[in-house]
Amino acid sequence: MSDHVPVITIDGPSGTGKGTVGLLLAHKLGWHILDSGAFYRAFAHIAHQRHILPEQIDQLRRVGDQLDVRFKVRADEIRIWAEGRDITAAIRSEEGGRSASIYAAIPEVRQALLARQRDTRRAPGLVADGRDLGSVVFPDAVLKIFLTATPKIRAERRYKQLKDKGFDVNLSRLENEIAARDYQDTHRTISPLMPASDAVEIDTSEITREQVLDEIVSLLRARRY
Ligand code: DC
Repeated sequence: MSDHVPVITIDGPSGTGKGTVGLLLAHKLGWHILDSGAFYRAFAHIAHQRHILPEQIDQLRRVGDQLDVRFKVRADEIRIWAEGRDITAAIRSEEGGRSASIYAAIPEVRQALLARQRDTRRAPGLVADGRDLGSVVFPDAVLKIFLTATPKIRAERRYKQLKDKGFDVNLSRLENEIAARDYQDTHRTISPLMPASDAVEIDTSEITREQVLDEIVSLLRARRY
């Protein structure tokens, strides 16, 4: 039944605008939103809190089975709750991204989070952003977008985003951290970051998020949604 609910996937590396554009698009369409990176960040946060190392596969599986993550979507942000606490600030840091990327390379972790992500598919539709949403999680999506941008622009955007959220950040360190995370996400053996074969690539370096949104909406209209 849920297979008939339309999904739009927006994949790409950090700082390409996936999250912002995904949220704008979901609001415009009145559809649900899945921030899959937040699932991986929440998972890593809990595993880390419980001192579970990446090689402790049985314990990681248990975390995946018991994971109680909720998303509260507001006008311009998604707040993430886990085990009754708002963990948004704790997981949104660059450190949170680095830790998520490490656990996300473990096949058992990806497997545990796969069904959770698919369960978010609800009528009237879902906008889902991440790294492998079009290639693995929702291969039957009605529209698959892959966003790119130059490394410099991505670092500047992340810098501004983190600064606005009150994090203490350094631009050149951030550039290095983003490059390291990209490398890790692109070179892992399971579900590496790459465009699905039928994804439409949009380079967001020189255009505004509203222009990206317009382009996605016109692609969607061409598919009669
Ligand atoms: O989108 P993000 O920056 O919040 O994601 C944090 C990390 O989680 C990212 O570096 C890799 C991992 N991730 C993933 O492996 N697959 C996804 N679909 C989403 C995120």
